[in-house]
Amino acid sequence: MRAMTYRGPYKIQVADKPIPALEHPGDAIVRVTHAGVCGSDLHLYHGMIPDTRIGHTFGHEIVGVVHEVGSGVQNLAPGDRVMVPFNIYCGSCYFCSRGLFSNCHNVNPNATAVGGIYGYSHTAGGYDGGQAEYVRVPFADVGPKPVPDWLSAEDALMLTDAFSTGYFGAQLGDIDERDTVVVFGAGPVGLSAARSAWFLGAGRVIVIDHIQHRLEKARDFAYAETMHLAEHKDIVLALKRATDGLGADVVIDAVGAEADGSVVQHVTGAKLKLQGGSPVALNWAIDSARKGGTVSVIGAYGPLVSAVRFGDVVNKGLTLRANQAPVARQWPRLLEHIRSGHLRPGELLTHRFPLEDIGEAYHVFSSKLDGCIKPIIVVGEE
Ligand SMILES: NC(=O)c1ccc[n+]([C@@H]2O[C@H](COP(=O)([O-])OP(=O)(O)OC[C@H]3O[C@@H](n4cnc5c(N)ncnc54)[C@H](O)[C@@H]3O)[C@@H](O)[C@H]2O)c1
Ligand SMILES: [Zn+2]
Ligand SMILES: [Zn+2]
Repeated sequence: MRAMTYRGPYKIQVADKPIPALEHPGDAIVRVTHAGVCGSDLHLYHGMIPDTRIGHTFGHEIVGVVHEVGSGVQNLAPGDRVMVPFNIYCGSCYFCSRGLFSNCHNVNPNATAVGGIYGYSHTAGGYDGGQAEYVRVPFADVGPKPVPDWLSAEDALMLTDAFSTGYFGAQLGDIDERDTVVVFGAGPVGLSAARSAWFLGAGRVIVIDHIQHRLEKARDFAYAETMHLAEHKDIVLALKRATDGLGADVVIDAVGAEADGSVVQHVTGAKLKLQGGSPVALNWAIDSARKGGTVSVIGAYGPLVSAVRFGDVVNKGLTLRANQAPVARQWPRLLEHIRSGHLRPGELLTHRFPLEDIGEAYHVFSSKLDGCIKPIIVVGEE
């Protein structure tokens, strides 16, 4: 089969690999029809994630058709159209039984913090991902779900990570009715968090970024107010001014480890890797939350320490909540919103590439060229 393969930072190739085989009776092999490229893939592409091995296939946003199932699989059959959550999880360990699917204890021998993620280096279990014609899906009865007839492949793909993660970020904010919610980052995840904040009762939503076309999307898709980083010398002060001098009730970090905005943080965090990423947006989030407010972190950070203003978290009495999103938990509610016509997460997609051009997809997304918000790979026929 053809598959995206990692060759080193900023270098990817499409190469031939064997079609994955069933390795366990609970596995399925899925023929991929649609695969997303996520902001998290950019951290891999930029060489930020430890133990990203040459030849690894990325891709954790997967929609496809079941090709083959192991003898123990009961809920799926060949021919089923399926959406696969980005997390790999057993469904029965201490953590899974509490809904903490992204923290499953049985799927990642290399780390105790993060569970398994498709195509996300050996740090997240070493599973090959779905930017390929086929992918092996472990615990096939647990994570993947048949795509309902009325759901488009593109909307389904957005639920396998980006939109569900944004919704989860808003949930972690514990939004009270009429709260002011600030979202740092207008990528697909931040835009999804901003839109979701309204579903959860926000009274005001403000999105911050420094890419004009993404701020436009924040206004059109997420009905948010926007602030352009370049238009404010001190974004925290500007946010305080916009919120009666008190700060926002809820602030969501949807930027993560490669945040722009501080040369020192960027060089030590993203370039020299002396920190687990540059926490610029996280520190701004901490500074711009009101005392007693909540900071929700869905941006990704590496396992190393980062220079986070923790004293301010303590002294302001902030609640800090974070996780990789357990996306299947968000599905029932989001499917309801889509079915009733209140949501089309596929509206965030701007680019569609064939698998052979995936290098171009990474380049356009990484450099935010050509109005790019979210690219996907159309791998095969539905
Ligand atoms: N927790 C999870 O489960 C989960 C799931 C998916 C993605 N993620 C993470 O979420 C983050 C966003 O993902 P995405 O797909 O939207 O990525 P993206 O790269 O498209 O978006 C990031 C946005 O942040 C903006 N930005 C950079 N520095 C900023 C700053 N200091 N302040 C405000 N905005 C800033 C960028 O211009 C960009 O528009 C990434 O770190 C990704 O790894 C986490
Ligand atoms: Zn992702
Ligand atoms: Zn588990």
